[in-house]
Amino acid sequence: MGAAPHVAAKGLEHIVMGESTIAYVGGETGELHYRGFPIADLARSASFEGVVHLLLRGRPPAPDELDRLTADLAARRSVPDGVVRVLDALPPGLDPLEAMRTGMSALGDGSFPAPPTLEQGLDLIARTPTLLARHVRRSRHEAVVPPRPDLGHAANYLWMLTGEEPDAARARALEQYLILLADHGMNASTFALRVVLSTGSDLVSAATAALGALKGPVHGGAPALVAAMLDAIGRPAAAPAWIGNALARRDRLYGFGHRAYKTEDPRAIVLHSIARSAASADRLALAEAVEREALPALYRERPGRRLFTNVEYYGAVVLESVGLPPALFTPTFAVARTAGWAAHALEQVADNRLIRPDVSYVGPAAGRSWPAEVARA
Ligand code: ACO
Repeated sequence: MGAAPHVAAKGLEHIVMGESTIAYVGGETGELHYRGFPIADLARSASFEGVVHLLLRGRPPAPDELDRLTADLAARRSVPDGVVRVLDALPPGLDPLEAMRTGMSALGDGSFPAPPTLEQGLDLIARTPTLLARHVRRSRHEAVVPPRPDLGHAANYLWMLTGEEPDAARARALEQYLILLADHGMNASTFALRVVLSTGSDLVSAATAALGALKGPVHGGAPALVAAMLDAIGRPAAAPAWIGNALARRDRLYGFGHRAYKTEDPRAIVLHSIARSAASADRLALAEAVEREALPALYRERPGRRLFTNVEYYGAVVLESVGLPPALFTPTFAVARTAGWAAHALEQVADNRLIRPDVSYVGPAAGRSWPAEVARA
């Protein structure tokens, strides 16, 4: 029971809140691995379901375990009637992320009692795409497309959104995106999830809080802003002036900079290579030209900040190349991250202690008197 250290760390930067065996984020070296498996190898060789097994059970699946988990996740995709009623009561044009958050919260109908279990984690992962796709279809005045148990997680997601079976290359590009975004250590949304769980609360409440944190533009809300930036720049030749003006206004360039990485985000490297085969030649050329211009401009204009391309930059290019509109970029990030949230939920409750940091009080000293004119008689 030591005394509180009372060291202010704005944004909790460099504060270590515990130990984890789930993901290693090497900010200085540009490394990311899940339980020892480098992210690039997982993107090349694993399925999303295999990565779910790795994250939740702590080891890669044996072949029969992978078959069982794939079938199990597929069997859990339907959402309960109560959730359907909540979703269908939402205004059809509501932003998909807002609908997703409400739908996720509605999953908490008593079937996710605390503490979280592995089965609850699988339910969260399996049902999140279904509730999102339902709202998206209704918003477009299209018939809701039920999940298909014969399709993998990524292909089924595209199927439920479009009503068309995606070609293998498209489904695989999305699956690689989901693998790359499945976890990332103590990021803001996972921290939010862990804070909620540390109070003894339940998985759905924690995941809903996590989704609220993911939504912000400096976390998971960035990729639509990357697409908007590329649209606004329009052609490679316009990049120098556009970027120069943005940085002169002290704007942020979305898709660059990261709290952890002081070098290129390893996920950005893999997503760039996926974009090389998945994106249209024009879009790829524009994104590469903007990146070539942005990196030296950030170095010049924000000296000492060490700002590099982050996951959201080529993530946005990959998501649009698989046919998703910008409004679905952050929801798709959340579809991936439910896997990491489930893993962190299990780790948190296995060795829980209330997360309750301190703050340095710098307000007025004690001893003030309440004004007589607003005092109760
Ligand atoms: N463009 C321009 N300047 C930047 C950028 C950027 N992308 N990122 C950071 N800076 C500058 C800030 O203006 C600040 O400079 P100042 O102190 O002179 O004003 C300095 O770098 C430090 O910024 P902080 O926000 O304190 O640094 P932090 O470690 O919190 O930055 C963050 C990380 C929030 C991601 C930031 O780089 C950013 O806003 N990037 C753009 C948004 C983005 O792409 N977000 C997705 C991140 S990836 C993810 O969460 C999945």
